[in-house]
Amino acid sequence: MKKTHAFAGLVLSTTLLGAGLTNTFAADESLRSLADKNGIYIGAILNSQWFNGGLPGNYEQIHKKQFNIVVAENEMKFDATEPQEGRFNYNNGDKMVKYAQQNGMRVRGHALAWHSQVPGWVNNYKNDKQKLLKVLKNHIQNVVGHWKGKVAEWDVVNEAISNNEPQWRTGSVWYQGIGPEFIDSAFVWTHAVDPDAELCYNDYNLEQGVNPKAKAGFLLEQVKRWVANGIPIHCVGSQTHVEDTTTDKHFIGSPDSLRSLAKELAKLNVKLKITELDIGFKSGINVSKSDLERQGQTFRQYLDIILEEPNADTYLIWGVSDKWSWLGGLNRQKGLIYDDNLKPKPAFDSILVRLQTYEPPKDSVKADSTAKDSTVKDSTAKDSTAKDSTALDPGQSIKQFVSPSSLSMHIAGRTLFVTGLASKRAKVDIFDTQGRPIFSASTHNGTVDLHNIAEGIYVVRVRSGSSNLIQRVTIK
Ligand code: XIL
Repeated sequence: MKKTHAFAGLVLSTTLLGAGLTNTFAADESLRSLADKNGIYIGAILNSQWFNGGLPGNYEQIHKKQFNIVVAENEMKFDATEPQEGRFNYNNGDKMVKYAQQNGMRVRGHALAWHSQVPGWVNNYKNDKQKLLKVLKNHIQNVVGHWKGKVAEWDVVNEAISNNEPQWRTGSVWYQGIGPEFIDSAFVWTHAVDPDAELCYNDYNLEQGVNPKAKAGFLLEQVKRWVANGIPIHCVGSQTHVEDTTTDKHFIGSPDSLRSLAKELAKLNVKLKITELDIGFKSGINVSKSDLERQGQTFRQYLDIILEEPNADTYLIWGVSDKWSWLGGLNRQKGLIYDDNLKPKPAFDSILVRLQTYEPPKDSVKADSTAKDSTVKDSTAKDSTAKDSTALDPGQSIKQFVSPSSLSMHIAGRTLFVTGLASKRAKVDIFDTQGRPIFSASTHNGTVDLHNIAEGIYVVRVRSGSSNLIQRVTIK
């Protein structure tokens, strides 16, 4: 705080400083830049339409600006990568890996052993245990081998637990033909091919309590057994396809329950990742503005787990815009953070604000979170260097501050001043520290009147052209 004042005093008359500002040098913030600073991954799938150029250009612009991890909606699944026996097709997956490399993103691989989206030819060997073992092993060796060192983590096994009662999903082609040992084998084979990849068990409905009657309770017992037996499992992926619990009273599932799973997994040195998040409303209902704001709060509560639990590091959303979402098939709607026109929804703001305001407890270290991925580590390093040099060399930061191309803001008394605008007016949004919208206005002559806002700590976002500045402020 003292440093901020000291440097700001050189630019502004000190009498103008009626309110405190922090993080004064940040400009053009995104979910991604804030996630980098917090040492977590935030991502969204690349929808299948992206692979054949079927999406508007701003989709990709948004995707690479906002996210630092990516997964393919369908293109690395069994039926996509081995449509015919022994004939592998890596074209789409390669396209995504290249995109990720060009944009410094981490790649998730999804999914190796799953009962769904398995090509028809596999079923020809339905009850032939030896043949099915060979088929699965060969698939894993080829696919994991092809992307070795490029795919940082794999969903090795997806949805192997029944949804109705806590037991294995017995209808799966792999379970029927091989038995539950297909799971242990898949982990061992994957690890043998790429020992550096993080290996996850991935499933849904894991946010319904950690007790023997719930899926997460059953899974936890399996994870204990895998760990005790030296099966290489490093993470549990919680898909977290959930519903808004106010408009659907029957839906069970809560961030708190998922957090308790994270805490149990921590005891086993296994990570929790949120891998396929969407928070839908029932199809057909009228979704109001306050529904969308409440949805934003739920997005934030799930994000809190990733920020706060030391063994949680990834927050991945199953889609970008509501327009291209698989949720329609589930009789749900509007579960993502951008609307049909690729405009950010209140949920986007909640996430952005939470990433901005989160302060890790002193001495907290994310369990090896970014260690495996040099690209993300690099950008984190860049950020911290920038911060350090700011602290040591105020002269340099002032140069940034007054640069005509960069947006900046300060508060004097009850007036917000914005400089460096790309156009005549900027849009200003003010949120509470939980990400709830409090106030919105456009600047007039570079200012916004804040007299109607109660004293307190807020987050102010200024948008001008494609620039985005977000800062925490104290209004006195
Ligand atoms: C979904 C895709 O989004 C759809 O395009 C496809 O038709 C079916 O699969 N759990 C998973 C994902 O692990 O692979 C699923 O993705 C959604 C549920």
